[in-house]
Amino acid sequence: MKTHHFVGEIKIKQSWWSKMKYLLFVSLFVLTLSGPAVEPKDSDLVAPQEMIDEINRVQDLWIASSEWVGNMTFAQAKLYASSKLEAKKFPEKDWGALLDYLSIPASFDSRTQWPYCTKPLWYGDDCNAGWAFAAAETMTDRFCIATKGAFNITFSPLYLIICDVTLPELGCLGGTAENCWDYMRTTGITSIKCFPYNPGDWNQYCPYDECRWGTEITLYKTLSVNTFTSPSSIQAEILQNGPIEATMTVYADFQAYKGGIYKHTTGGLVGYTSVKIIGWGNQSGTNYWIAGTSWGSTWGMKGYFNIAFGQCGIDRAGVAGPPDLSNIPTIKI
Ligand SMILES: *[C@@H]1O[C@H](CO)[C@@H](O)[C@H](O)[C@H]1NC(C)=O
Ligand SMILES: *[C@@H]1O[C@H](CO)[C@@H](O)[C@H](O)[C@H]1NC(C)=O
Ligand SMILES: *[C@@H]1O[C@H](CO)[C@@H](O)[C@H](O)[C@H]1NC(C)=O
Repeated sequence: MKTHHFVGEIKIKQSWWSKMKYLLFVSLFVLTLSGPAVEPKDSDLVAPQEMIDEINRVQDLWIASSEWVGNMTFAQAKLYASSKLEAKKFPEKDWGALLDYLSIPASFDSRTQWPYCTKPLWYGDDCNAGWAFAAAETMTDRFCIATKGAFNITFSPLYLIICDVTLPELGCLGGTAENCWDYMRTTGITSIKCFPYNPGDWNQYCPYDECRWGTEITLYKTLSVNTFTSPSSIQAEILQNGPIEATMTVYADFQAYKGGIYKHTTGGLVGYTSVKIIGWGNQSGTNYWIAGTSWGSTWGMKGYFNIAFGQCGIDRAGVAGPPDLSNIPTIKI
């Protein structure tokens, strides 16, 4: 009786241990799949050389380089990814049946479609207001495209940075693309002539009803704000009305992007950034977007990058609207 009891206890112990072994194995497996359990520290390098080498070894869709990212820490990298994703306030553009019969080309680039409306990207320098730079650029392109080049004025990102200050807009510290478009719908945006942008010059007050030098301000608006949350809707919009603004997730490896078609390969979440999508292409079976940042001429391809469809939510949070041309009666379209 006692012996039996003893044997029984061993059996129980054995089966307990084998269950534990199984559990340990499963949890180790899950841990391995879900990556390192430790959050990156702010002082960690965002893209150390070993990581860059690994990216270039394990895939050949895109190239990583230390040229721009250098010894940037996670804390510094987060400043570049300061956009906020907001719950969708504005309606998805309703294309009706149009999307069914619109023929979407395999590739499209606003720069070759509308060369006379192509302007350089803004470089933010020490101001990381991607939400405002991409918005001002997109509005600039859209007014020019809608007027076939007749209205060719560059809009001022600085005006948005210092005047659109309703939270969560925080100037160079971050903001929300959708709110910015709402500001351009209700208040508007003015020209770069009225409100010049010089790097380091962003810490000033908003004059609201006059230009920087006291002259009369003219504000230009978007008629409405639409959101675009699928590749075909974004393609249709760009084909018909020009570039859109989009907000995407930034992972550590994106900061080391130099060229090619970006696909998130390794590295933790850094934040979000807002960019301008200007077209798309198809290479070796991969559909990709062509987009521009305000991270400077040494990041990516002079500030531009290609990114595979569906990556980092880039085609799920697009925003833009039609230009209100009623303010420019002297221009014949
Ligand atoms: C990064 O840091 C290392 C070690 O401190 C230094 O040798 C290297 O020059 C730095 N690289 C850049 C791009 O600043
Ligand atoms: C618009 O301005 C840009 C320079 O900002 C110039 O390159 C382009 O040719 C102009 N387009 C038209 C139609 O005047
Ligand atoms: C992209 O290219 C691949 C083959 O190269 C093709 O299967 C695919 O349909 C293309 N996509 C588009 C939208 O043209």
